[in-house]
Amino acid sequence: MSVPSEYAGKVVLVTGSRRGVGKLIAEHFLAAGATVLGFARGAAAIEHPSYHHFEVDVGDTDAVVRAFGEVKKVTDSIQIVINNAAVLTSQYAMIMPPAAAQAMVNVNLLGPFMVSREAAKMMRKRKWGRIINIGSMAASLEPMGDSMYAACKAGLSTLANVMAKEFAAMNVTCNTLAINAIDSDMLSQLPRDKIDAIIAGLPVPRFSQPDDILNVIDFFAAERSSIITAQTVFLGGVN
Ligand SMILES: NC(=O)c1ccc[n+]([C@@H]2O[C@H](COP(=O)([O-])OP(=O)(O)OC[C@H]3O[C@@H](n4cnc5c(N)ncnc54)[C@H](OP(=O)(O)O)[C@@H]3O)[C@@H](O)[C@H]2O)c1
Repeated sequence: MSVPSEYAGKVVLVTGSRRGVGKLIAEHFLAAGATVLGFARGAAAIEHPSYHHFEVDVGDTDAVVRAFGEVKKVTDSIQIVINNAAVLTSQYAMIMPPAAAQAMVNVNLLGPFMVSREAAKMMRKRKWGRIINIGSMAASLEPMGDSMYAACKAGLSTLANVMAKEFAAMNVTCNTLAINAIDSDMLSQLPRDKIDAIIAGLPVPRFSQPDDILNVIDFFAAERSSIITAQTVFLGGVN
């Protein structure tokens, strides 16, 4: 059986590739012929000849720089980055443990900053790249209990929008896909009735399915999308 070749020859870095959305995206690119580099704190959860796993905490700036040193032993180029890894502690601000708030800043905002900048240095050589951040409906809906998480996700779009300007001359686009909700370990941390009520109020009142996410990832990643940059796409009709 021949391998689909949509991403043949492309190297894709996916953070948070061990579970949930990140694993879904990593497996999608592998199935379409890409080489995938996966970042996560834990051990590899994907076995594939074109998958390379790196145990790294993206919230640790030095560790990210070290991880790119390891990446360069495998490949001298990265074409597509998916900044997906994130952590969530949902709690009202007055009782949010400061360490949990700090972890969200480090992993959800500083991590994508570091991964994007290190990857951009590699993209610069070939003057082609796609940086795609995984955002959240929380950035727009601003639900109580998610002050820091929502602020980080809003910041993620800002990060992409500024980098879009800085990297445009290198033909590197930077965009954000803001997911509404999809079943995962992260989502299961939240009260289901709260999520169901939020989703019921959306123009398209359903959870995302894998293809809803992959559709937008493919759109941002496409050769034809070279003019699409500094954009945030919200799923479900959130705006
Ligand atoms: N699920 C939803 O409904 C939903 C809704 C809106 C937005 N999102 C966004 O979608 C993305 C994926 O969420 P998910 O639901 O798939 O989450 P998840 O099930 O909790 O998976 C998170 C992934 O990130 C990795 N990770 C966490 N902290 C890390 C760190 N410090 N360094 C490196 N990797 C780390 C985890 O692996 P390790 O534990 O091994 O590190 C895991 O592979 C996130 O950006 C999230 O904010 C999700």
